[in-house]
Amino acid sequence: MRYAKVMLIGWVSITLLLIAALIAIFSAADSTSTRALSAQRAANYVWQLPPGFPVPNVPVDNPMSEAKVKLGRYLFYDPHLSSDSSYSCASCHSPEVAFSDSRPVAIGVTGQKHPRNTQGLTNVAYYTTLTWANPALTSIEQQVLMPMFGETPVEMGMAGHEEAILGYFQRSNVYRQMFADAFPDEPDAINYQSVSMALASFSRTLISGNSPYDRYTFQGDQTALSPSALRGMKLFMSDALACSQCHAGFNFTLDTSYQGAPAVESPFFNIGLYNLDGKGAYPADNTGLAATTHRAEDMGRFRVPSLRNVALTAPYMHDGSLLTLKDVLGFYAAGGRTSPYQSELIKGFTLTDQDEQDLLNFLHSLTDDQFVNDPRFSNPFTITASEESP
Ligand code: HEC
Ligand code: HEC
Repeated sequence: MRYAKVMLIGWVSITLLLIAALIAIFSAADSTSTRALSAQRAANYVWQLPPGFPVPNVPVDNPMSEAKVKLGRYLFYDPHLSSDSSYSCASCHSPEVAFSDSRPVAIGVTGQKHPRNTQGLTNVAYYTTLTWANPALTSIEQQVLMPMFGETPVEMGMAGHEEAILGYFQRSNVYRQMFADAFPDEPDAINYQSVSMALASFSRTLISGNSPYDRYTFQGDQTALSPSALRGMKLFMSDALACSQCHAGFNFTLDTSYQGAPAVESPFFNIGLYNLDGKGAYPADNTGLAATTHRAEDMGRFRVPSLRNVALTAPYMHDGSLLTLKDVLGFYAAGGRTSPYQSELIKGFTLTDQDEQDLLNFLHSLTDDQFVNDPRFSNPFTITASEESP
């Protein structure tokens, strides 16, 4: 009897142990296969990169997939992603002007002005840091939360409407399917983490590398640049003008990273755009890097913007204060507005009228017409409204 009891307890504990072991084995197998599956899906993603372009960095927890890019494209153009269903990412980032907005500074859904100029999203996948001057902001996933939920300034005004907006996606059959396809491992994929991941994935595909400059430099087309644009390129690369020391490399900015590139600290520069008090002050709402570091020497330091498609993204600079490329060249030729924090590379130079025209022609040769008209990046609602629109 005593023996039987001991045996029973023994069996029960052995059975319990076995069950526990089986659960452990199954869940391990399950998470390994899930992980293997996601990795496989990511590995299946095919970047369509222009000749000469490296593979962009992608966060390990948000691998690229066709389904995510597709969802991101819909979300990017969908005005339901705003307080009153009137404003989308594309209200400020419009494809025909290389995903910028032609305004000096951005204007949000309530009419509130942003202190800064809307950035074009050309090749945003290659930036090390995002926005005009924020060294801490290094992922597009994080960045896209700002226009959605930010309140100073209000952009899409979604704060306070979180549930109602998700409710819209939950009620839509098409969106339910797209979220499920994009996040197949998640039972309840309709949430803001998925929204930001999909928007980031779509943003990473906005790659432009088929301008006349690219055809000349990377595709062996000797006739792609006019003699004038070629002279402009020489000036751009010259020591006297020093443009290419900051607007460097294939993406025309030092703030570039990609797979296999060594990690470098992002440089930020003061080009002497303001000196309000004789001591180098910039307007209080746009002090650049100093706004986050609070160091005097960071006053007016901004990220070097890429110059790809720059002829389409007027007006220029972080506050849209220079209206044309001619104004920009005039500004650099004058050596900025001489501020104590200005980079020593901004020292002024003289251009003949021909030099100026050559430089302008070179800057225009960075315009990629195929990019701005690419159907993969266009508004999906206007194209597939009949059968596919949610
Ligand atoms: C009200 C206009 C407006 C809306 C709407 C808007 N943006 Fe922007 N976007 C801006 C401005 C202005 C900046 C620069 C912000 C800064 O420097 O603080 C920017 C910057 C960005 C950047 C960083 C670009 C770079 O070069 O570092 C990304 C990415 C971006 N926006 C994506 C989006 C996405 C995705 C949406 C939709 C969820 C969106 N934006 C909605 C105005 C807007
Ligand atoms: C010291 C580094 C540096 C040098 C040298 C430099 N730039 Fe810039 N450039 C910048 C930075 C930083 C900005 C953004 C400044 C701001 O908004 O306050 C900028 C902005 C621009 C813009 C506006 C882009 C936009 O999207 O608004 C153009 C165009 C431009 N530069 C062209 C040139 C040309 C042409 C030269 C050579 C004559 C040149 N740059 C030399 C750092 C530099």
